[in-house]
Amino acid sequence: MGRIITIANQKGGVGKTTTAVNLAASLALAEQPTLLVDCDPQGNATSGLGVTIEPGQPTLYHVLIGQVPAAQAVWPTSLSKLQIIGSDVNLFGAEVELANTPDRERLLGRVLAPLTEHYRYLLLDCPPSLGLLTLNALTAAQGVLIPLQTEYYALEGLTQLLHTVARVRRTFNPGMQLEGILLTMFDTRNNLAHQVAEDVRRHFKELVYETVIPRNVRLSEAPSHGLPAILYDMRCSGAESYVALAQEVMAGPRGNDGAPMEHGRAA
Ligand SMILES: Nc1ncnc2c1ncn2[C@@H]1O[C@H](COP(=O)(O)OP(=O)(O)O)[C@@H](O)[C@H]1O
Ligand SMILES: [Mg+2]
Repeated sequence: MGRIITIANQKGGVGKTTTAVNLAASLALAEQPTLLVDCDPQGNATSGLGVTIEPGQPTLYHVLIGQVPAAQAVWPTSLSKLQIIGSDVNLFGAEVELANTPDRERLLGRVLAPLTEHYRYLLLDCPPSLGLLTLNALTAAQGVLIPLQTEYYALEGLTQLLHTVARVRRTFNPGMQLEGILLTMFDTRNNLAHQVAEDVRRHFKELVYETVIPRNVRLSEAPSHGLPAILYDMRCSGAESYVALAQEVMAGPRGNDGAPMEHGRAA
């Protein structure tokens, strides 16, 4: 059975999509059958993998509203072991249209269930909010991976996110683990970044991945070529760091069952 890992942080621009795309690609390169599910109506993971949604092409939206089974919305990418369920702006409508559906937080988990046996990893890229789509992604997941931008305000909003995670655990998904906290966009020449990284490690200890994602322009260029960094420039520091992260992810979650997320250690 595949492991569903949701990549969440309600702050925008912290590296969720970059992590989703490049971790998924690195897992695929390590021979792990992987499905990336783009849960963000902005569709950045979709376009970042070079997938263009044509009119009539089924997306996550069509799957969520029950129009097509998830298997019909799966598309190939430039890596043979990596496939994607794409999204576009239509997904904005799902938040509204599904608002009154019974059990609306469990829809995504339900529609993905038949696919989990075909993959080792299913990565869910979340939008920058704690709305219904993110709640669905958290409810569907076995683990939540939280990217934190290594800058002064890194921890801002983290308490709220951890509270949401704790609430989802209490109400919908008691088995969810903290997969790990990932420091992103690390600028080695910036003293403040070192300070922030130290603070985060002191707070969250073993929950933080050893791998730190450096600030690397190749990571920001690759999506405009529709490629994960590993195919755009295999030797860039960004690609190498995501390959290292994939090894850590394959070693298992950093937080054990009942890890003290509930206590909101970001406080
Ligand atoms: N490690 C990095 N180095 C350089 N640019 C990055 C890095 N990670 C992300 N970016 C860029 O920063 C912007 C925001 O990243 P993104 O992954 O889209 O964040 P989110 O999905 O959390 O909104 C994008 O333009 C992306 O290309
Ligand atoms: Mg994003």
